[in-house]
Amino acid sequence: MLNTQNPIPENVFAEKVTEVKHYTNSLFKFRVTRPKSFRFRSGEFCMIGLPNSENPIYRAYSIASPFWDKELEFFSIKVQGGPLTEHLQRIKIGDTLLIRKKTTGTLLLEALLPGTRLYLLSTGTGIAPFASLIRDPEIYEKFNKVILIQTTRERMELSYANEIVRELLDDPLIGDFSSQFIFYPMTTREASDHMGRITDTMSSGEFFSRTGLPPIQATEDRFMICGSIAMLKDCVAMAEAFGLKEGTNHAPGTYVVERAFVS
Ligand code: A2P
Repeated sequence: MLNTQNPIPENVFAEKVTEVKHYTNSLFKFRVTRPKSFRFRSGEFCMIGLPNSENPIYRAYSIASPFWDKELEFFSIKVQGGPLTEHLQRIKIGDTLLIRKKTTGTLLLEALLPGTRLYLLSTGTGIAPFASLIRDPEIYEKFNKVILIQTTRERMELSYANEIVRELLDDPLIGDFSSQFIFYPMTTREASDHMGRITDTMSSGEFFSRTGLPPIQATEDRFMICGSIAMLKDCVAMAEAFGLKEGTNHAPGTYVVERAFVS
């Protein structure tokens, strides 16, 4: 079903699935071959689809792999009855994935003014662009500390983040920077070392007393934010309350938000 003979449009790459890994009933990652001419900046997203109809449905997916990886990685939810994920969750090694050639996004290092610490705030699959960025050595050249905060309802949903962080610290390319990287996993509905929402733990100051990091200062700290509509809204309000200002590729600021997945 996933390898029909429909012609591939000129603005689309047809790539082969090389790995699929399911973490929970609702979360999985997959990797595909990467065309040599497919270039992107760490943190960007692209539109992906399946060749299962004459008019494939495309959805925005952050590229979770870094720019230097020879394959492309994606991290996805499984929505029963979802127009794309209903089928995507059944892909197997060797299947074809369609990828539109154009990439874009706002979670870019260029969209941030220089700073000391970079906070990557994510919930759920919002971790995907950060999975790319934390594997890009440039992030550690630009910031003294990179702090990844990922919140999920339950501990199992942190499996992908835990896996990437483990691999990251073993990676010789990034390993040298490991003293600059802090991972702060949180859960809201199952007991774990750090319980609660990002917004609550940062606004109350609990996060800073637990990590020993200084309270947010607009001159030093930068935020990148990726998650659900409600999470973006609350994290943006928190960032603004800390005195941070939103940046874009053309006018860098002190925080950036990815809104592509929630419109
Ligand atoms: P909570 O369990 O308190 O709703 P979801 O699966 O609904 O997208 O949620 C993923 C994670 O994001 C959950 O831990 C959830 O916490 C948290 N979350 C949901 N809404 C917000 C928000 N407005 N601000 C911060 N975290 C949120």
